[in-house]
Amino acid sequence: MRKIHGGDVYSFGENMIDFSANITPLGVSEKILSDIKNNLYKIALYPDVECKTLVKAVAEKEKLPKECIVFGNGAAEIIFNAVNAMKPKKVIIAAPAFAEYECAADSVLAEKIFYYMGENNNFDLDEDILECICEDIDLLFLCTPNNPTGRCADIELVLKVVKKCEALGVFVIIDECFMDFVVESERFSFDRYIMEYHNVLIIKSFTKMYAIPGVRLGYGLCGNRDVIDKICLSRQPWNVSVFAQIAGVSALEQKELPEVTRKYVEKEKRFLLENFSEMGIEFFESSANFILFKECEEFDKKLLNYNLIIRNCSNFRGLGKGFFRIAVKSHKENEVLVRALKEIVF
Ligand SMILES: Cc1ncc(COP(=O)(O)O)c(C=O)c1O
Repeated sequence: MRKIHGGDVYSFGENMIDFSANITPLGVSEKILSDIKNNLYKIALYPDVECKTLVKAVAEKEKLPKECIVFGNGAAEIIFNAVNAMKPKKVIIAAPAFAEYECAADSVLAEKIFYYMGENNNFDLDEDILECICEDIDLLFLCTPNNPTGRCADIELVLKVVKKCEALGVFVIIDECFMDFVVESERFSFDRYIMEYHNVLIIKSFTKMYAIPGVRLGYGLCGNRDVIDKICLSRQPWNVSVFAQIAGVSALEQKELPEVTRKYVEKEKRFLLENFSEMGIEFFESSANFILFKECEEFDKKLLNYNLIIRNCSNFRGLGKGFFRIAVKSHKENEVLVRALKEIVF
């Protein structure tokens, strides 16, 4: 079965502008590139299985003990390793959502239940999710800001969900892979509660903010060390490559980069959305670095003629035909997109 994700430049060719992968518009930094180049000789070494330098840097950033951190070959691997470690029988997924939650649940033959966040509510998480949580559920997936909608869940509601799950013995995975792009992320992230609630794993990624999808690096945070140990047992020892570890440390040394990126993305998002409004394109306000919008079926095919790839979201559960997602890219690239949209729409 072919999995569909954004960023499939291999199928479309390299002369295309790829709006389908939600990667920072600033691209990979010179610092990360030169740190990797200067260490190319380490290709002949096994990676450090304990990721010692990287874990120190992440522990400092997150202000958490090292024992509460687990690394993965991308955040995607942590989703699979966590599910594999827990072997849930019944899983709830707040949908529409990143497809790999469902794939991970399938990999352990778990029964899946979908809680649908409705279009009439801008795809926001609603109080009625609390009614779906019961004792026979083992695991719940939430994503905030959510892919593909870009909507952040209300942290007070997330707390209610976590508390109810804790009381009923349900584990919660909160995917915050796009939280780095959220202005005032401290208001929305669950990380300040992570040591308090032992039934929660937060997942984060280096892929998006630092434009390093090719090296694969993500991490999980959990106040429950037994869960971290179990996840470590379910993975192979060298899952984080030498270059992923170097890139991660290098990334965290660029302390101002996330703020600079957030400002850039906000400005460009406004530019795109003002043009969407002018063209009468229906969209959903997003807190992340991508935008979900509605257009006619196969709109993505029309943009291919302009060498532009956008994400057709019809295969997301709870969306269907006529939904599309674009990443917020550089001003020059966004202008190319807007020009093409104007030609098609007007
Ligand atoms: C919500 C979400 N979580 C996790 C991932 C996986 O990220 P990574 O590249 O770190 O594996 C993605 C990738 O698109 C995503 O959209």
